[in-house]
Amino acid sequence: MSDDALDAAASSLGDRLHEPPEIFIVLGSGLGGVTDAVEAAVSFPFTEIPGLPPSAVEGHAGRFVAGRLGGRPVLIQSGRYHAYEGHPRDVIVAPVRIAHRVGAESLLVTNAAGGIREGLAPGTIVAIRDHLNLHFVSPLRGRVRAGEIRFPSMTEAYAPALRAHARRIAAELEIPLEEGVYASLAGPTYETPAEVRMLRTLGADTVGMSTVPEVIVARARSMRVLGFSLVTNLAAGLGEGRLDHAEVMEEGRKGGRVLGRLLREVVRRWNEIGAPA
Ligand code: HPA
Repeated sequence: MSDDALDAAASSLGDRLHEPPEIFIVLGSGLGGVTDAVEAAVSFPFTEIPGLPPSAVEGHAGRFVAGRLGGRPVLIQSGRYHAYEGHPRDVIVAPVRIAHRVGAESLLVTNAAGGIREGLAPGTIVAIRDHLNLHFVSPLRGRVRAGEIRFPSMTEAYAPALRAHARRIAAELEIPLEEGVYASLAGPTYETPAEVRMLRTLGADTVGMSTVPEVIVARARSMRVLGFSLVTNLAAGLGEGRLDHAEVMEEGRKGGRVLGRLLREVVRRWNEIGAPA
C-alpha cells in the first residue's frame, strides 16, 4: 500500500473510533477471546477499511475492535495477515502503519508458538525478549515510508521496560511468565524435527509464523513493543505424534484466557511503566 493509501485507510479507521488508541494490540491464533473484555467496543471487519483484504485463516477473525481495555483506549487487531496466506509484505504490516497513524504509540503483539526450550510446555506464556527473522526478507525493503527510519536498530526491539512491567504484574497475579527468543518462519508447514534442532542451535526458544514483520515496522516508526508467545504445543519432534492446527487452536483458546487476564492488567496499569529507554 502506498503512503497515500495508508493515509486514506487511517482516515477511514479514525472515523470509526471514539478516541485515539494508546496501544495497538495484535491477537494471535485462538486468542480472540481477549476482545470480550473490551468496554464500549466498536467492531468491524478489516475489509471495511479501504485497501485491506480479508484474512482467511481458520480461527483468525479478521476484525478490528476498538474501545477501552482496563480503562485505557486500545485498538485491537483480532486475527492477522500471514505471509503464508500469500499476502504481500505491505499488507501484512499495513495495520501497524495505520494504527500508528491514528495515535497508537505502542504495539502489544501476541502469537501462538511451538515450545523449543526445555520446560516450555503447552500453556506457558513467554515474554518475547528478541527474535530471529527467518523470513529472510524485511517488510521495510523498498522506498522509505513516511514516518519511518531507513536503518532501524533492532537492539532492544522488545522494550525492556515494558517487559519488566509485564513481569511485575504476572508475579502479582501469580501467572508464571517465561522469557525467550521467538523464531519466525514463513510457513505454512510446521517445522521438521531437523529444523527444530537447527532452531534450538540458533538460540530460539519458541517458533511461529508471525509477529516479526509487524515488530520490524513498529520499530521503524519508533513504537514501543511488548510481545507474548503462548506456547500451544511442543515444537515438532519434541513431543508425541504430529502437529495439528486444531490442537494448536484449542490450546490457544485454553491458554488464551490466562494470557487475556495478564494483558488486561498490563494495559490497565500501563501508566506504571518507567520512562522510555
Ligand atoms: N510451529 C510454527 N508455528 C506454530 C507452532 C509451531 O510449532 N505452534 C503454533 N504456531
